[in-house]
Amino acid sequence: MSKNVLLTGGAGFIGRWVTKKLLDEGHRVWILDDLSNGRETNLEEFRQHSDLKKFVRGTLLDEQILGDLFEEHKFDICYHLGASINVQDSIDDPRTTFNNDTVGTFYILEQCKKYGTKVVFMSTCMVYDRCSDESGIDENHPTKPASPYAGAKIGAENMVLSYYHAYGLPTVVIRPFNTYGPFQKTGGEGGVVAIFLKNELEGKTLNIYGEGTQTRDLLYVEDCARFVVQAGFSDEVNGEIVNAGLGRDISVNDLALLITGDAARIKHVEHIHPQSEIQKLLCNSGKAKRLLGWEPQVSLEEGISRTRDWIAQGGLA
Ligand SMILES: NC(=O)c1ccc[n+]([C@@H]2O[C@H](COP(=O)([O-])OP(=O)(O)OC[C@H]3O[C@@H](n4cnc5c(N)ncnc54)[C@H](O)[C@@H]3O)[C@@H](O)[C@H]2O)c1
Repeated sequence: MSKNVLLTGGAGFIGRWVTKKLLDEGHRVWILDDLSNGRETNLEEFRQHSDLKKFVRGTLLDEQILGDLFEEHKFDICYHLGASINVQDSIDDPRTTFNNDTVGTFYILEQCKKYGTKVVFMSTCMVYDRCSDESGIDENHPTKPASPYAGAKIGAENMVLSYYHAYGLPTVVIRPFNTYGPFQKTGGEGGVVAIFLKNELEGKTLNIYGEGTQTRDLLYVEDCARFVVQAGFSDEVNGEIVNAGLGRDISVNDLALLITGDAARIKHVEHIHPQSEIQKLLCNSGKAKRLLGWEPQVSLEEGISRTRDWIAQGGLA
């Protein structure tokens, strides 16, 4: 059945793909994004879509905007992706990350409580402590707020789960692992695949922070968006924390080699925040499979190839 959905952060990288998935499935979508890191052009393809009801440029921190949106549209589901996502920015300016990621989530929860709206809270694998074995990180793995970004997300997660326990509000915390694919920014921090591919295509060196032995479990963005959307339509996951990842980790050194094929193009530089690095991230998605029937479908090689094609076609200005 078609639902009224509020998507925060919908003009961002993953938000763009969640928008696509929701529209493909026939839902009516409202987007709230302050464009602090997103772009309206990410939504260009859907501009004429009759079910993309409205794009509101505004901040989560404006309770008036939120109140008006919820009152008018009585959302069935809120996918809450809007957040500050950059680890280094959170170290330099923790207030902005705390306000957007934690306080903003509280404001969302207050509205959802008022209207009985299901909340899908987008957390992150960055809340976990390093992985210590090959069975991977499941949802019982210890967390560690190694950066204010992780700390703000853990704070918000606890509030999201408290609304389930205290008020019976249907809420779920989802923790996707590092996500990559078309529409991810190729500059700055975070999009390691996009940055490496862009540098490779431009004939530049690939810079690795630190020794490059740190590993990442890389999730292709369409697999991620399918997981996010499914979490909104399942009662099984209410009150739960659920991971999603590829189930394979790769060191940053091996990722760089996979992308360039030429070791001479790889350079190691001093890590900008070694204290907040997580040495090994490998996801165990058994719970997502059990509760949602979700499994990743796109291999790392295939995902890299799709992302490379997109960047090569000038996908990002
Ligand atoms: N990219 C990843 O690898 C990854 C992995 C796991 C989880 N996540 C989470 O997924 C979500 C989306 O991440 P992304 O990679 O697409 O990043 P993104 O920066 O592209 O998307 C976040 C969006 O939120 C918007 N935003 C930020 N603060 C806002 C505010 N106060 N009000 C309204 N909008 C605001 C930004 O403009 C941006 O469009 C985030 O919650 C992030 O923490 C990302």
